[in-house]
Amino acid sequence: MKPFEIAPGVHWIGATHPELRVFDDLLPTRRGTTYNSYLVRGEKSAVIDTAKALKADEFLDNLRSLIDPAKLDFIIVNHTEPDHSGTLARLMQAAPKAQVYSSKPARLYLRDLLGRAVETLPVEDHPQVSLGGRTLRFVPAPFLHWPDTIFTWLPEQRILFSCDAFGAHCCDERMYDNLVPDLEADFHQYFDALMRPYRDKVLAAVESIRDLDIATICPSHGPILRTNPKQYLERYRQWATAPEVSKPYVAILYASAHGNTRRMADAVAEGMKSVDVIVDIIHVTDVDESRIRAAMESADGLLFGTPTIVRDIPPAMWRALSLLSTVKVRAKRASAFGTYGWSGEAVAMVEQRLKDMRLPVTPSGLRVKFCPTPADLERCRKFGETFASETSAG
Ligand code: FEO
Repeated sequence: MKPFEIAPGVHWIGATHPELRVFDDLLPTRRGTTYNSYLVRGEKSAVIDTAKALKADEFLDNLRSLIDPAKLDFIIVNHTEPDHSGTLARLMQAAPKAQVYSSKPARLYLRDLLGRAVETLPVEDHPQVSLGGRTLRFVPAPFLHWPDTIFTWLPEQRILFSCDAFGAHCCDERMYDNLVPDLEADFHQYFDALMRPYRDKVLAAVESIRDLDIATICPSHGPILRTNPKQYLERYRQWATAPEVSKPYVAILYASAHGNTRRMADAVAEGMKSVDVIVDIIHVTDVDESRIRAAMESADGLLFGTPTIVRDIPPAMWRALSLLSTVKVRAKRASAFGTYGWSGEAVAMVEQRLKDMRLPVTPSGLRVKFCPTPADLERCRKFGETFASETSAG
């Protein structure tokens, strides 16, 4: 895609990756992505971020079509993940007199990523730079989504270069939010994958830019946002805000091959009735990830019910457990239960996963061989009552 002007003196000069279908081997990208880079020119000139190494030629060609890189004065590193720093070494070679600005963490990461020290000017000590007629002000935004992240604010034209925040994996040459159809789903999916684990940091960052009179948000991926940009801040604020829960809430997430672990789940829930808690039973194969994430973010206690299938946790439960690292878990305790045929490893595996996620496992997991007997179901009720009581006590 060719460069285009966003505002006088401000151009998109990034690269496109329309054929990409999974970003970082992690996140499905049905419409590919873009690696957005921006050229800002006053009396002096600056490039904000670069592109993935795979797309270096496209990025550098776009830059050269507008300016001789040797004349560049500044390079702003908003973030060092390789999809934005992958062409930095080549750009620095082509722009030898350009001064590089970054956060202090970014400088450390660049040393490791590029294999050599990069003498950047730390934005913590140099919070803005004048281009002559235009100013770039740096706004710390740590953990959106790396510790090194900063935003860059161009006050004269009210443009926020927001790095990964407010991005979307969506490659569409129309490149503006009001022109790209069905952007909402990509925008929300991107938030869930990248920003949701850092909800507190998202709220802090949104608060720090709340008073800026933003006309345009230029993110690092996907379309530029110019339709009431504050709506995007508000969406991030809403999605990052922890839901209110009126009383202690226990989520029981389960999978069940033959209905036996489900019977355990019902008995566990029944045992909780004597305690003043909200109980939510979720069959993990029937719901999408957002439902599971929401429960993980809201629950004061988390229980996982799983059978053992071929010495392992079944895939649907693995998927649910994998989501623990994608959210800010509110629970102070968790545990596991489940049925098994002859070996029964799954409950212990879940317990280990919970411990690895720094979730205290209490009480210890409960296992039942094949079909729960009346005595087993009574053990389940006791297990549920104990778990609910401890959760209610805080
Ligand atoms: Fe788009 Fe965190 O890199």
